[in-house]
Amino acid sequence: MNVLVIGSGGREHALVWKLAQSPRVNRIYCTPGNPGIAALALPFPAESGDFPRLIAEARRREIGLTVVGPEGPLAAGIVDAFREAGLGIFGPTRRAAELEWSKTFAKDFMKRHSIPSASYRTFQTGEGPGRRPGGTDEARSYILSHPLPLVIKADGLAAGKGVIVCLSRDEAIRALEEISDPSSFGDAGRRVVVEEFMEGEEASVFAVTDGVHFVTLASAQDHKRVFDGDTGKNTGGMGAYAPAPRVTASLQADIEEKIIGPTLRGMADEGRPYSGCLYAGLMLTARGPKVVEYNCRFGDPETQVVLPLYQGDLAELLIASASGNVEAPATPVPTQGSAVCVVLASAGYPGAYETGKPITAPGKDEIPPGILLFHAGTGRGPDGLLVTAGGRVIGVTAVRRGGGMAGTIAAAYDAVGRVSFEGMHFRHDIGARAAAKADSI
Ligand code: AMP
Ligand code: GLY
Repeated sequence: MNVLVIGSGGREHALVWKLAQSPRVNRIYCTPGNPGIAALALPFPAESGDFPRLIAEARRREIGLTVVGPEGPLAAGIVDAFREAGLGIFGPTRRAAELEWSKTFAKDFMKRHSIPSASYRTFQTGEGPGRRPGGTDEARSYILSHPLPLVIKADGLAAGKGVIVCLSRDEAIRALEEISDPSSFGDAGRRVVVEEFMEGEEASVFAVTDGVHFVTLASAQDHKRVFDGDTGKNTGGMGAYAPAPRVTASLQADIEEKIIGPTLRGMADEGRPYSGCLYAGLMLTARGPKVVEYNCRFGDPETQVVLPLYQGDLAELLIASASGNVEAPATPVPTQGSAVCVVLASAGYPGAYETGKPITAPGKDEIPPGILLFHAGTGRGPDGLLVTAGGRVIGVTAVRRGGGMAGTIAAAYDAVGRVSFEGMHFRHDIGARAAAKADSI
């Protein structure tokens, strides 16, 4: 089968890398791709937002499966368009993806189906000309009476910037003002969610589903803050590791029974059957796992550690999801080993950064065994040399089939030392908490 992957990040590089290993895959294409992906996939002459052109070119190349990496095209209805055209595609419809593109929808949905999450209220910040930067009096008085800390979230997609954890009421009012200001958050801030702060360790769980049956991949943990010790601004993710040692087999069963299963049944009951990857961002609280957020796609950079540990045929699994044939394994496939991904970022990221800096990295034959370099914001300079082209530039993943997390972390950082570009920065503590936890189990 010919496969098309949509996206250009480290997640898409990992998807292409894993799909290319499948005997089911004949040709693999990617748009827009990046220089790392270009070594494995053919270019595809249509932009990811141009659905009619994508469909026409997919027909011409006999693409049997299209795999969508980022949330944007899903929220814009790419799955609906491909399905109407009779083409196979992995991912949820626009209405199913509302679990990610509207936090208000997700919160109300969880409440309707008794899925554990933080308590909350939602507020309109005003519509059209009547919209008031600063939010409504109702939202302000709720914030002033709510115990601290509290969390303020923009309703719509905000590239990871729409969530503000507030330790004081002043901060919370400022967050409300910022999110409801049309000039900073646009339509994403037309509604806000004010939510209880949940205490605990976070974990990401990916369930690949056809709407009824599902297979969960290794649990993972992201590192969202830019600096060591979880300080500084939120980013798209500075690194990840898998498996998350706190997600024991019994906790995993609990997550499947109380969160994944009820989510899929609830979506089906509401006439929005969910197929694709359901990403549950979880807080492991003292009172059990609770949903922080849903995403309607694989996570980035979690995919760069979850897929290298997956022992099955990814193409087969994604084809099964797209065609309604996922068979839940009678006994879960054990996850062997561990993986750690360290993201190398441009100076200034997640704020403004420069691009076009030449990258020094080991060539294909110089990369040590067990190391994978997943490209994200890379490009080619005028002379064909590899240069930086984004905030998150390269993810260095180490995978080991045995041994503890500490050895995998050491292998990842050893490989990080072989990559450099001007202004490169990265976190030095990816996986450190997992290693400490694993040692104490
Ligand atoms: P999100 O974009 O919804 O994943 O939120 C970004 C980050 O904000 C999460 O990964 C958490 O670290 C934090 N966060 C969001 N909601 C809560 C909450 N209710 N309690 C504690 N932390 C939260
Ligand atoms: N790593 C967080 C995300 O993909 O949303």
